[in-house]
Amino acid sequence: MKGLKNKVVIITGAAAGIGKATALRFAEEGANIVIADFADGSAAVQEVTAKGVQAVYAQVNVTDPESVKAMVAKAIEVFGKVDVLINNAGITKDAMMKKMTKEAWDAVIDVNLTGVFNCTSAVLPHLLAQKAGVVLTTSSVVGLYGNLGQTNYAAAKWGVIGMTKSWAKEMARHGLRFNCVAPGFIATEMVKKIPEQVLNEKILIKVPAGRLGEPEEIAAAFAFLASDDAKFINGAVLSVDGACTL
Ligand code: CAA
Ligand code: NAI
Repeated sequence: MKGLKNKVVIITGAAAGIGKATALRFAEEGANIVIADFADGSAAVQEVTAKGVQAVYAQVNVTDPESVKAMVAKAIEVFGKVDVLINNAGITKDAMMKKMTKEAWDAVIDVNLTGVFNCTSAVLPHLLAQKAGVVLTTSSVVGLYGNLGQTNYAAAKWGVIGMTKSWAKEMARHGLRFNCVAPGFIATEMVKKIPEQVLNEKILIKVPAGRLGEPEEIAAAFAFLASDDAKFINGAVLSVDGACTL
């Protein structure tokens, strides 16, 4: 991919799953990485640095604006700049609407929607000052089409698409780009929580590709959207879902 070498990339939720695969992919492209996660990211840092680039772990809770500010300050302290933010931290608290508690609603909105607002707010002054930068966010097939048991998650994942499109309209003229990737069902810890019967008989059966996606397949989409190859792509949602929405 064009233009990723020596870029500084903050990836939230990078200790595991899609975020970690994305960190490794950007490292292969020659970028330096901030592994930002609530959970311990030291193993991810080791794997990234083994690829010959620099990486640092920032412990962050994306729901806490002060913690997010400290994450961005660490990136600036270590690398002197931020070029790309990937808003990827996310959780599920699934329940059918009739059983969904306000607590489950708040928890998912706080991480998956407000967390994206917090992280983007914190990097924005740096991106605007350098008149260049890319913010990418992990939406979901569920944000585009809804899903049983995911009122909270669907609202957040649709919400980040609206935010992304608004930011593209506001800030394209300042040289900034904002896009989402909408993964289908991907083989990570998140999907392991789906009851086996539901996964096999209700979800996988509808995926023409006939399988879960791999985290690396989402990482490739992020690498493309962050690269100069995508320099006229702004406010877009790239579905990477094995055709499960057709
Ligand atoms: N798609 C289709 N049907 C589903 C479904 C789904 N996602 N989830 C549940 N159902 C069906 C069940 O198969 C069941 O059907 P039958 O009555 O025909 O057996 C019916 O809905 C009721 O389900 P449960 O008996 O399991 O009801 P429950 O109240 O005990 O549990 C639930 C409800 C918590 C939603 C549970 O079913 C569940 O966890 N479902 C999976 C929800 C899901 O798809 N989550 C995605 C997580 S991964 C992710 O979010 C990443 C991403 O972006 C894609
Ligand atoms: P995962 O559970 O493997 O990784 C999520 C990471 O986010 C974890 O390392 C976790 O510690 C971190 N995290 C959670 N809350 C946090 C917080 N408050 N602050 C900082 N970090 C926090 O899950 P996965 O699958 O890699 O998910 C990554 C993103 O992809 C999420 O936004 C998820 O909603 C999205 N997604 C996942 C799909 C899938 O099928 N796995 C499909 C579509 C979207």
